[in-house]
Amino acid sequence: MIERTLSIVKPDGVARNVIGEVVRRFEAAGLKVVALKMIRLDRAMAEGFYHVHRERPFFPSLVAFMCSGPIVPMVLEGEDAIARVRRIMGATDPAKADPGTIRKDLASSIEKNIVHGSDGPATAGFEIGYFFDALEIPPR
Ligand code: CMP
Repeated sequence: MIERTLSIVKPDGVARNVIGEVVRRFEAAGLKVVALKMIRLDRAMAEGFYHVHRERPFFPSLVAFMCSGPIVPMVLEGEDAIARVRRIMGATDPAKADPGTIRKDLASSIEKNIVHGSDGPATAGFEIGYFFDALEIPPR
């Protein structure tokens, strides 16, 4: 099934000049970038985006990290896009990520892991709508 998913190049990825490398890997896998922007989150926006993690011990640090510099959210489209983006990213913890994945190759820690990708269809819907309004996304 053709799906859309949200990915983000996080502040560590922007700071390390790998926006292009992350996008290149998605495009090389046949995924299409259908929307993309650079923004800087404030605390409320970062808290809202990661609200499912609000009770986790790493939440305050995660929110501070996500506000520490610009991020590049994007909408990716393709066959089975949600699972494919997650495979291309690799496991959350770069130490556990498979060779050849973005996080194995580029990430420095479980928090500063370069990239985010939606974990399912409902999450993708929420996350795409969090960063992009209808006029910014091409109709399907
Ligand atoms: P992401 O896939 O964006 O989803 C939640 C984020 O929280 C995750 O990537 C990491 O950046 C961060 N995260 C998840 N688990 C931990 C953890 N155990 N310690 C610190 N940060 C974490």
